Parts: sequence; C-alpha cells; structure tokens
Amino acid sequence: MATLTLIFADDAVRRIEAEPFETVHQAAQRQGIDILTDCREGACATCKARCSTGDYLPGDYSDEALPDDEAAAGGVLLCQTVMLSDGVVELPYGLEALDLPPAAPVAAEVVAVDRVAASLHRLVLRPEAPIDYLAGQYARIELADGGARAYSFASPPGGDLEFYVRHLEGGLMSEWLAGPARAGDRLRLTAPLGQFHLRAGPRPVLMVAGGTGLAPLLAMLDGRVGPATVLVGARRRDDLFGEDILARTGAEVRLALEDPPPGWRGHTGRVTDLIADALSPSGEVEAYLCGPPAMIDAARADLVARGVPEARIHAERFLPSA
Ligand SMILES: Cc1cc2nc3c(=O)[nH]c(=O)nc-3n(C[C@H](O)[C@H](O)[C@H](O)COP(=O)(O)OP(=O)(O)OC[C@H]3O[C@@H](n4cnc5c(N)ncnc54)[C@H](O)[C@@H]3O)c2cc1C
Ligand code: FES
Repeated sequence: MATLTLIFADDAVRRIEAEPFETVHQAAQRQGIDILTDCREGACATCKARCSTGDYLPGDYSDEALPDDEAAAGGVLLCQTVMLSDGVVELPYGLEALDLPPAAPVAAEVVAVDRVAASLHRLVLRPEAPIDYLAGQYARIELADGGARAYSFASPPGGDLEFYVRHLEGGLMSEWLAGPARAGDRLRLTAPLGQFHLRAGPRPVLMVAGGTGLAPLLAMLDGRVGPATVLVGARRRDDLFGEDILARTGAEVRLALEDPPPGWRGHTGRVTDLIADALSPSGEVEAYLCGPPAMIDAARADLVARGVPEARIHAERFLPSA
C-alpha cells in the first residue's frame, strides 16, 4: 500500500492510499476523489499531473498525450500511473474542479507563545487530531474573534505544531500574540495546505530564506539527509532565529544582515547577494525560496540568469494572508 499526497493548484491537500497495481485514478476514485479523466487509456492527457516525489510505473500512454520531456520532468497520466512507493502528485486544478468541499478546520490548544526576539513570536499548537503534513506546507490559523492568517509549519510532522510569526505593528495575529494570547487558549486551524515541499532527487539543495521565510525550511531540513546550503537574510541580528536547529541539521549556513551590529562577521547586505557564491559552477541545484515576494522575485531572477531551470526553483511567497 502506498500513501499518496495529492496537492491541488488551490493549495488544498488530500491523502489517499493506493493498493498495489491500482492506478492513481482508481485509488482516488475509491476514496471519493474523482480526478478529471476522459479516455482513461493514456491518450487524451485530461488526467495529466506531476509526480514530484516517489517511484511509479508510468503505464501505457501515447507520446502525444505525454511527450518525453514532460515525462522526464515528472509528468504522469493518472489513469495509467501505478505508485510503487509513497509519493506526492501535483494536480493542475483546484478542488472546485472536482466539486469537492474544502477541508474542515480542526481545534487546537495553544501550548506556548514566546516572544523570541523583538520582532518575532514563536507559537506552538497542539491539534485535537493529528495533522499529517509535508514539511514546507502551511496552516490557516483562525483567531477566536474572527480573522485567519496563513503560517508555515516550522517543525517537521509528528508532534506539536510550531510557527514563527514576524511582529507587524497593528497586525491582527501579531497583536494577539503580543497581547492576550496565552497557553491553554483554544483556536481552530485548517491544514495541511500548500504546494511548497521537498522534491526527491540527487541534486544538492540550495535554500534562500528572508526573515520568517526560514520557518518552512527548518521543517524541511529537520531529518533530511544530503548536502544543503542555506542562505538566511534578516534586517538585524535580533531577527535571526532557528540557529540551534540549523546547527543540528549539518547544513552549510550563510547569514546576511542588512543592518548588522558592530563586529558582524557574516555578509552585510541582502541575502540574494550570497547566491552567486553558493551555486556550484554547473548550476546543478534544487532551489527552495521562502519569504517576502520581493526577495523571492530577486532570488528567482538571479538563479535563472545563472542557468538554473525554472522547474528546479520552488518558492513560497509570504503574501499578506488576511
Ligand atoms: C502561505 C503563507 C505562509 C506564511 N507563513 C508565514 C510564517 O511562517 N511566518 C510569518 O511571519 N508570516 C507568514 N505569512 C504571512 C502571514 O500570513 C501574515 O500575512 C502576517 O503574519 C501578518 O499577519 P498579521 O495578522 O499580524 O497582520 P495583518 O493584520 O494581516 O496586517 C497588518 C498590516 O501589515 C501588512 N502586511 C500583512 N502581511 C504582510 C507581510 N507578509 N509582509 C508585509 N506586510 C504585511 C498588511 O497589509 C497590513 O497593513 C505567510 C503567508 C502565506 C501566504
Ligand atoms: S484520461 Fe485520457 S490520458 Fe488519462
């Protein structure tokens, strides 16, 4: 039996189990998810998706429905594909296309709220039912008096849920965390959500984080084996967090501060200044970018200019989520 995570284009996520020899389409249909199909013979491409993680048999299909270059990049026809291991499949449409309702929120208790730096809160939640997410994904957290915001899991799946929240003066979540939030409070969250996750593969990993954009990268790094370089940017020394976790992961970490204290030995300036040095001459890398949109745009443009294909650049933009 293979466990398969289906990630939809609207950030919705569903988990299914696939029996040996069952196609992904058959497995999903058995569990109430009627993936878009037409011919079911590998000819029309209606069921085309992308398998980003996992081993699979692609089955029989026409080259016109799935050209070789797409198949080499993980393209699959779900009416033909049989999973040989757990995996992740990304679908090019949202839940609405299948007439499926969004996931229901679950209740959670606040375990801890700490102001870990002048501009940063750490929030730890214990959900009533376990939440099975991929490192890199996020939760939509609802406050008791209304309003909801998106936050990336900073801890790997399997325990309490940890989040790092940048303090924004006057912000709904920021002011709740800075003010009335207490251990024992109850709230609701919808999770997992999001397309940001680690891809399997042999390439070295380059991560670029701006501010709290480091949070999902910490979750990804925890427990991961293999070489990784992590570039971390922040405004001030005080804004940095997660250094203990980074040290534990064995990743090569390079720091950039825009406004460093006297005696700072890391880079002074933007985190994107560090990309050129961090790339191997071949440009062979799987890149993960997370943080403010302006940082992501600059990092992506730089990577592409240095020859990294778009398909190997994965990003989560911390847009205002009100
Ligand atoms: C997928 C996703 C994951 C996210 N994960 C994290 C995370 O792990 N940690 C984290 O700190 N944030 C994260 N964010 C941003 C987060 O959802 C909130 O937008 C942010 O924390 C502000 O919430 P607030 O209630 O404190 O402020 P709000 O009440 O939403 O806003 C207060 C003021 O700040 C502005 N503002 C809101 N958000 C931002 C922003 N991101 N950048 C600049 N100005 C902003 C608003 O326009 C408004 O003027 C994520 C966003 C997305 C979409
Ligand atoms: S439904 Fe036509 S190729 Fe799968």
